[in-house]
Amino acid sequence: TSSVHPSSSSLLTREGDEKYANVNWEELGFALIPTDYMYVAKCKQGESFSEGKIVPYGDISISPCAAIFNHGQGIFEGLKAYRTEDERITLFRPDQNGLRMQNGADRLCMTPPSVEQFVEAVKQTVLANKKWVPPPGKGTLYVRPLLIGSGPMLGIASAPEYTFLVYVSPVAEYHKVSSGPLNLEVNDKYRRSHAGGTGGVKSCINYCPIVKPVLEAKSAGFSDILFLDAATGRNIEEISTCNIFIVKGNIVSTPPISGTILPGITRKSIIELARDISYQVQERDVSVDELLEAEEVFCTGTATVVKAVETVTFHEKRVKYKTGEEALSTKLYTMLTNIQMGVVEDKKGWVV
Ligand code: COI
Repeated sequence: TSSVHPSSSSLLTREGDEKYANVNWEELGFALIPTDYMYVAKCKQGESFSEGKIVPYGDISISPCAAIFNHGQGIFEGLKAYRTEDERITLFRPDQNGLRMQNGADRLCMTPPSVEQFVEAVKQTVLANKKWVPPPGKGTLYVRPLLIGSGPMLGIASAPEYTFLVYVSPVAEYHKVSSGPLNLEVNDKYRRSHAGGTGGVKSCINYCPIVKPVLEAKSAGFSDILFLDAATGRNIEEISTCNIFIVKGNIVSTPPISGTILPGITRKSIIELARDISYQVQERDVSVDELLEAEEVFCTGTATVVKAVETVTFHEKRVKYKTGEEALSTKLYTMLTNIQMGVVEDKKGWVV
């Protein structure tokens, strides 16, 4: 772990102060606002990561032949730091992100940091940038840990060197309430993932191919897309950047973690919270037909939190769902964010 802390090395610049003064906390989106510091650690393949360092946020120098550039050997994570009303800065289940990075690293033959080093790196990066954690109610500090194959590799093999980086940016929720209801298109043209692939880990290569289908859907007036499974094309899998749930009566259903969807930490937390308030939660295949007959649909993710889906369109059919105060998603959103923001006591030990 790093011993270099910015308060002792006084790396703050006037430029950093100006950047900070110019942030409009009322108008945060989900877009990069560069902050002051980032964390960097390196290691040789199969060895342990050396002590990381907090350094000024900025560009890094990597070989053009780095495995990340040539084969996409990389994993990213996403978690948030919260500023509570009583001025504490907290994280939500960061160990879970560290574990997920390890699973992804195993799939992509990368050397990961230990969970302890991961959490320590996140803490150090957040503390170094703590003034950038938005005031309560205005947003959160999105933390982006990255593990990349930074060593040169011309053939297809795992890189000889890895870089573990953590940077942060103040953000609002990904699907902002102010940007209107979520109108999804079930996408029957592209597939996100297939059995045996990398859809179940947070590998960088899962995300670039989503851009084209999302842009196509946006130009047709939708806010986002829902992918179907590659094997049958009959079951729903995942929204471009988050997990999906349907509600009918007392039953909440969501596709299972079977290697083709991302094991979301918000997903897992919401399953537990829904069970706490006596909903029956089923992790199982969910067909498009069931989706179209559901009473309520919502999505979960670190960036998006919990967001109600107002409509789903499949081929020519458009279905409208329950949203607003009466919706289960509203209740679950409040339960989750109350824990994250320290409004209620964290009885689950999720907050760090
Ligand atoms: C997250 O929710 O943290 C994600 O990774 C989605 C992101 C691609 C915006």
